Amino acid sequence: MCSVETNANLSSVAVVTGASRGLGKSIAMELSAQGIDTVLVGTSSTVQTVCDEIEARYHTRSRCFITDLSIADKVLDMAADINREYDVFILINNVGVGGTVDFLSATPEYLENIIGLNVRCTALLTHALLSNLLRQKRSYVLNVGSMAALTPVGYKAIYPASKSFVRTFSLGLREELRDTSVSVTLCQPGAMATNGDVKARIERQGRLGRATLKSTEWIAHRCVRQMFRGKREAVINRLAWVLSAIVPERVRTRMLTRIVKRELQ
Ligand SMILES: NC(=O)c1ccc[n+]([C@@H]2O[C@H](COP(=O)([O-])OP(=O)(O)OC[C@H]3O[C@@H](n4cnc5c(N)ncnc54)[C@H](OP(=O)(O)O)[C@@H]3O)[C@@H](O)[C@H]2O)c1
Repeated sequence: MCSVETNANLSSVAVVTGASRGLGKSIAMELSAQGIDTVLVGTSSTVQTVCDEIEARYHTRSRCFITDLSIADKVLDMAADINREYDVFILINNVGVGGTVDFLSATPEYLENIIGLNVRCTALLTHALLSNLLRQKRSYVLNVGSMAALTPVGYKAIYPASKSFVRTFSLGLREELRDTSVSVTLCQPGAMATNGDVKARIERQGRLGRATLKSTEWIAHRCVRQMFRGKREAVINRLAWVLSAIVPERVRTRMLTRIVKRELQ
């Protein structure tokens, strides 16, 4: 944990998980450009560097938590600190990890990390901050899923399943909170050239990998705009939506599994 103010005089803040790089950092920048104070979460001191960059560039206040969100107790400890120190009117559940591996070779730690971050952290953090969000006049939750949730794929048996959870959880909670001050928006990006692993996969997939590729800045801008409009979903890749509606799931699963298998070889 770092730089948490006691007796904070911050008014309402946006909490962004996985904010030290990639989409989370772009969302933090987008919110800060709109004059919103932020609380950013990451595992390394890079997140402090992002806070410093934001304060210098946008003159908003930005604080960070350095913690491991794959561990339930750490999620709950952080949420308790946030609830003590801040009014939260935006929660961006962005942290998430993926990967490609044949299921038998996956280590228990690999499976646990994906489930811990993509599923457990999303549910626990939302639950722990919900009373705080409900106290605000108007508040927003943006959950980052993935287009991967639309199609089950071999060699990715865990990641799309975890993002299906994000989708179902978001849409169900949105309905449950319909008559409250909290609006829940789902965002399901396609490929973004963020970390080294994803960049290499996009490269190996050639034209298919590039088909849904978008910059994190573009996606962040679109997601934040749709979130403030109270949309059910920030639609990012219309073509992918249309294809998933037209091509039967069994066909998509076979085709994508073949491509991913080639990629692994
Ligand atoms: N990249 C894609 O092509 C793609 C496509 C569809 C959906 N998505 C989804 O979009 C979201 C963002 O992905 P991204 O590619 O932008 O991520 P990324 O560049 O890999 O960045 C991951 C972020 O999460 C933080 N993080 C990782 N493990 C953590 C942990 N155990 N506890 C706390 N923080 C942790 C990292 O912090 P540190 O750097 O400080 O460790 C970093 O800020 C994810 O939910 C991902 O599933 C990504």
